[in-house]
Amino acid sequence: MNTTNKEKLNIVVTGGAGFIGSHLIDRLLKKNHTVTNIDNFDAFYDESIKRDNIKGHFEYDSYSLHEIDIRDKKKLSDAVSVNTDVIVHLAAKAGVRSSIDDPTTYQEVNVTGTQNMLEIAREKKIKQFIFASSSSVYGKNPNVPWREDDTVLQPISPYASTKVSGELLGHVYSHLYDIRFLALRFFTVYGPRQRPDLAVHKFFRLIHEGKPITMYGNGFTSRDYTYIDDIIDGVISALNYKNSLYEVINLGNNNIVKLIELIEVIEKTSGIVVKKENVEEQPGDVRQTWADISKANELLEYSANYVLEKGLSIFGEWYREKNDIKSKIETSH
Ligand SMILES: NC(=O)c1ccc[n+]([C@@H]2O[C@H](COP(=O)([O-])OP(=O)(O)OC[C@H]3O[C@@H](n4cnc5c(N)ncnc54)[C@H](O)[C@@H]3O)[C@@H](O)[C@H]2O)c1
Repeated sequence: MNTTNKEKLNIVVTGGAGFIGSHLIDRLLKKNHTVTNIDNFDAFYDESIKRDNIKGHFEYDSYSLHEIDIRDKKKLSDAVSVNTDVIVHLAAKAGVRSSIDDPTTYQEVNVTGTQNMLEIAREKKIKQFIFASSSSVYGKNPNVPWREDDTVLQPISPYASTKVSGELLGHVYSHLYDIRFLALRFFTVYGPRQRPDLAVHKFFRLIHEGKPITMYGNGFTSRDYTYIDDIIDGVISALNYKNSLYEVINLGNNNIVKLIELIEVIEKTSGIVVKKENVEEQPGDVRQTWADISKANELLEYSANYVLEKGLSIFGEWYREKNDIKSKIETSH
C-alpha cells in the first residue's frame, strides 16, 4: 500500500548522486526515511565528484544505490519496490548549452527517461511524483517576475523544451492514473557541491586559477540565484503535499542579480579582484530569470532564507576547503 501519510517514507530519488540529489538524500536519511538512489553517474561531469557527494550515504542501512540508466525501463522496474511512497525524479541531462550540441540525447534521457519513471509509478501504484523542472521553461517570457499561472512558455533551448515535456507528461499521468505530480521549477541553484559547469562554481575556479571570467551578455544578464538548502526545504515539503493532484511550483529566491553584481560579491567574499572579459550572449541562454514565489509560500510554506552574500560565503568556504586553498582575506582584530 502506498501512502504519504506517515512519518518514515520509502523514497526513490533519481539523480541522487548529483548536486541537488545528494543534498536531498543527506536530509532524507537524517530524517530516517528509506532512500533508493538511482543514478548512472552520467559523464556530463567527472564521476569521482558524484562518488564523493554520496560517500556519507552508505553509513545508513536505510540507503541503497542502483547504478541504472533511466532509459532502461526493465532495470528500473526491478529496482523500484512496490512499497515506494514517493518518487523524486531529479535525474536529467542538465546544461543548457550542451543540449544545443546533443538535443537527441537530452530528449531520450529527459523525456523518455521521465516517461519511464512515470510508467514505473503507474505499474507500482506509487501515488506521489516530484519532478525537477526548471526556470528555463519560461524562456523569453517578458512578464517578470514569472508566475506559474502565466502559461505562455517560450523555451529557447532543447534542455528547456525537455522540461516543458516532462511537466506535460506529468499532467497526463496525474489525470489518467491519479498520480499526484508536482513540478518544481528550480531557479539557478548554488551551494556546496554545485555542478562545476555552473556560474558561481566556475567563477570561483577561474578566480583561484588567476584566469579571467567570461561575462556573457556583457555582464547584464541576470539570474534569481537560489541557495541549495532553500531548494531542499521546498522538495521536503512537497513530499507530504496532498491538497491537489497536479501543481507547478516555482522554487526561487525572488531576488534578481546581474552577472556583474554576482562577480562583485564573489570578489568581496574571496578577497580577490577578478579579471573580466565581455562576450556576447550565448544562444539558448535566457536574458533573465526571476521567480514569483508566492505560490510556493502558500502551498509548501516555502521561503527563501539565504541572501546571496551568505550563500556565497558558505560556498567559498566549501570551495577553499575542498581545494586546500587558504583564504586571501586577512581577518582584522
Ligand atoms: N542546478 C540547477 O541550477 C538546476 C536548475 C533547474 C533545474 N535543475 C534540475 O534539477 C535536477 C538536478 O540537477 P543538478 O544540478 O543536481 O544536476 P547534476 O548533473 O549534478 O545531477 C543530475 C544527476 O542525474 C544523473 N543522471 C543523468 N543522466 C542519467 C540517466 N540517464 N540515468 C540515471 N541518472 C542520470 C547524473 O549522473 C547526476 O548525478 C536536474 O533535473 C536539473 O535539470 C537544476
